[in-house]
Amino acid sequence: MKIIFLSALLAALVFAQNADQSFTMHSPDGRVVVILSARQGKLEYQTAMDETAVLLPSVLNMVVNNHRHFQDCRINLQDQSAIDETWQAVWGQRSTIRHRANRYLFEILENLPEPHLSVEFQVADDGFAFRFLFDGPGGDSLLIADEQTGFALPEGTTAWWTEGDYNSYERLYRHTPIGKIDSAHTPLTLELPSGKFAAIHEAALLDYAAFVLRRDKTNPNRLFTDLEPWPDGMKVKAILPHRSPWRMVQIADTPGGLIESDMVQNLNEPCRIEDTSWIKPMRYLGIWWGLHIGKETWFEGRKLGATNENTRAYIDFAAKHGIEGLLVEGWNVDWKNWNFNFLKENNRYSLPAMAAYAREKGITLIVHNETAADVTNYERQIEDAYRWYETLGLQAIKSGYVGTIKPFGFTHHGQFMVNHYQRVVELAARHRIMLDVHEPIKPTGLSRTWPNMMTREGHQGNEYNAWSSGNPPDHTTILPFTRMLAGPLDHTPGIFDITFDRYKKENQVHTTLVHQAALTVILYSPMQMFADLIENYQEHPAFDVMKQVPATWDESHVLAGVIGDFIVLARRSGSRWFIAAVCDENGYRGEFDLQNLLPGKYRMVSLVDGPKAGYATDPTDYRITTNNYNPALLPLTLDLKPGGGALIILSEN
Ligand code: NOJ
Ligand code: CA
Repeated sequence: MKIIFLSALLAALVFAQNADQSFTMHSPDGRVVVILSARQGKLEYQTAMDETAVLLPSVLNMVVNNHRHFQDCRINLQDQSAIDETWQAVWGQRSTIRHRANRYLFEILENLPEPHLSVEFQVADDGFAFRFLFDGPGGDSLLIADEQTGFALPEGTTAWWTEGDYNSYERLYRHTPIGKIDSAHTPLTLELPSGKFAAIHEAALLDYAAFVLRRDKTNPNRLFTDLEPWPDGMKVKAILPHRSPWRMVQIADTPGGLIESDMVQNLNEPCRIEDTSWIKPMRYLGIWWGLHIGKETWFEGRKLGATNENTRAYIDFAAKHGIEGLLVEGWNVDWKNWNFNFLKENNRYSLPAMAAYAREKGITLIVHNETAADVTNYERQIEDAYRWYETLGLQAIKSGYVGTIKPFGFTHHGQFMVNHYQRVVELAARHRIMLDVHEPIKPTGLSRTWPNMMTREGHQGNEYNAWSSGNPPDHTTILPFTRMLAGPLDHTPGIFDITFDRYKKENQVHTTLVHQAALTVILYSPMQMFADLIENYQEHPAFDVMKQVPATWDESHVLAGVIGDFIVLARRSGSRWFIAAVCDENGYRGEFDLQNLLPGKYRMVSLVDGPKAGYATDPTDYRITTNNYNPALLPLTLDLKPGGGALIILSEN
């Protein structure tokens, strides 16, 4: 009785005090400051870096089990600690990753029934993140009808964004003031009026709906999260205790600083796969581009691409050139009706025979599973299919989710699909299968926990050049600073026959050949496709340079970059350095003093645009030179033509 009375008195005292509260959090280097406040009972947060605003006071608002939270609350700092750990990546843009951040846990005191909400923050030198924790009697249900997490940006902020369409994550980027955004997918990359750069995204998206960002109708500089709903309108249906994904904001002095951050992976749990020896980054060829340009077909008939004969020729070519993998699309039925059976081959293909042939030649055969977004059909067959593939020794799948999600009413990034994709990753891990997912859920760093989730599409890939007006030359100078902040990209670069006039006169790739080769370094993917037909690589000197690019790295640095104009990267694999650059339609010239990064003497192989090169003029004009190079004596000069690129390999002498 006494206890009940005392806690009632305490609660009364807490809610009677309307005094504002503020807690200030700092990054380890002190440059990033985040303040969490309860102002007149309303919860809000704000951020600055180097004392200039990144986010103005931004409100938090959530409807959980029919109650609106954070409207009349107080905050209690419950726990505070420092994180400083270093972990080894199974694959990635660097092999060793440091996670250093200050962690703060706030209990939110509210006069509402359970669940009880807390907010956990991590403030790091490269940004900050927070997530909501829902606590209550274990097993009770949690229904989230809304989460409106605000991001109030300073006036003058601009963004690179794609429309937040619930059913498509494949659009070209636009660069506008944020007031022009109606809805946008994340990562959303921002340039602040202070000249700093930021990116809003989420990490560890598990058993929750993904969000798009929507503009506040009353304030053009304010965005808020809009969770993709279930068909009945509810956003999240879960069991207590539960937690939201991290809402993260990367902050950097330069656009390249965003790329050098490992924040999205650091916010995920460590690897859950004990033996990762079977997870192997690879480059791969494909019976693929021919299907998109109309040389071959997926479906059975005279031009069927997936035949045993064709597959053997591709396996032989891959083996001869040391390419580790081969994708074959159209091997199964039924492509005419887009009604797929993942256990039945077309009548000119034998999966066991091709698996055996690939194994004999040391090639990983990548099994294609186009689901046509018919999740029910896929889930009905998936256990048997994956078991069969494992029995055949097949260790990689490229899956796809073209079209509207079936069952009808579900959206691509809603909780139902988030859970489906995750179930597939975990099932694949049990069968020792690596995944490359097209039309995927957006990456949120889960590959740290499940490194068999290798790569994914989730952007306008090179295929758009085969059958639409295509990607403009600047597309690949935007992707590294936007979509790729979230994780690897299966862009399928490396098209050498730029105009493919023999098959389609009206379409072409909008870059030079050298730009295509350089993308294998620029657009990181632990399964990296060399996408052109093998006849276009046959005896091609530029292929001999490109095929040296590995699919994982020990170190990566951004040497220069302007979003939408150009990017220059240096990556190290063992003792070799790869310097790559791509640019937009305006060309690019730059000079780099590399003596600190590369203190030795090197043998340098350069694949560069030829003097007449240009994506619209002479896209296949290239030069290859080999010489000795000492960075202490000479800066490195790059001269990229319109839509051009450079790929330079330095081996220590
Ligand atoms: C779209 C994918 O992005 C592409 O790679 C694939 O060939 C087709 N779907 C067919 O599955
Ligand atoms: Ca053409």
